Amino acid sequence: MRSKILSFVKNKNKKKITCLTAYSKTTAKILDKYCDLVLVGDSLANVLYGMKNTHNLSLDTIINHAKSVKLGIKRSLLVVDMPKGSYQTPNQAKKNAKIILKKTGCDAVKIENNINSIKIVKFLTKSKIDVMGHIGYTPQFKKKFKVEGKSKTEQKKLVKLAKEIENAGAFSIVLECVSQNTSNNITKELKIPTIGIGSSAYCDGQILVTDDMLGLSGFYPKFVKKYINLEKKIEYAVKKFTKDVKTVKFPQRKNSF
Ligand code: KIV
Repeated sequence: MRSKILSFVKNKNKKKITCLTAYSKTTAKILDKYCDLVLVGDSLANVLYGMKNTHNLSLDTIINHAKSVKLGIKRSLLVVDMPKGSYQTPNQAKKNAKIILKKTGCDAVKIENNINSIKIVKFLTKSKIDVMGHIGYTPQFKKKFKVEGKSKTEQKKLVKLAKEIENAGAFSIVLECVSQNTSNNITKELKIPTIGIGSSAYCDGQILVTDDMLGLSGFYPKFVKKYINLEKKIEYAVKKFTKDVKTVKFPQRKNSF
């Protein structure tokens, strides 16, 4: 693990870790002042491109957004999601992760995990590629939304999977919509930080999709706290602009040459 990653990991048990998603430089620049980690999430498929899921997002698309995000990052850890289908075998995963790292200058990649992808994490970390895991509700592989880890059997399975991901060398792990008890158990069992989304305050840190918490995406499930209604604010400004233009209040002399 490189030093930037190591200092991220050392936050565990010291302070709560803050993470948000970004798809462009303008947002990244703001997040970089406050967040420990900025993720170029494949959620951009739904949020920006209006796709019904994340399944058809291309490697080129996420790389282009990550290049833009990188321009706004000075201090946060920059992690880029590997799209579905880009890490099916160890060699394919290594080839594509290297392309992402080289083209974007990010610090690490994130992959969604099930029991079959432990070998991918191991192969990448052995090849000195820093990897963040992602378990619980994993949109690349699960068809229907469900809170994960509610029953004892599910809890056991998820704790085991999380430990295997840690042993495979991942530096952190996202827990998406995992029940409180299970998140608590996983967080206690692991030495690496757990980052929750819809997975309770027991996690070492939290992540949200920025467009959701800004009230821009139109997607507000229970686990999202809307910190501002940016959709309304933007609409107000746009309405005012169009009115000003129509009534010739804009541009004024001071806006003209
Ligand atoms: O794609 C994404 O934005 C994510 C976060 C929700 C963790 O994976």
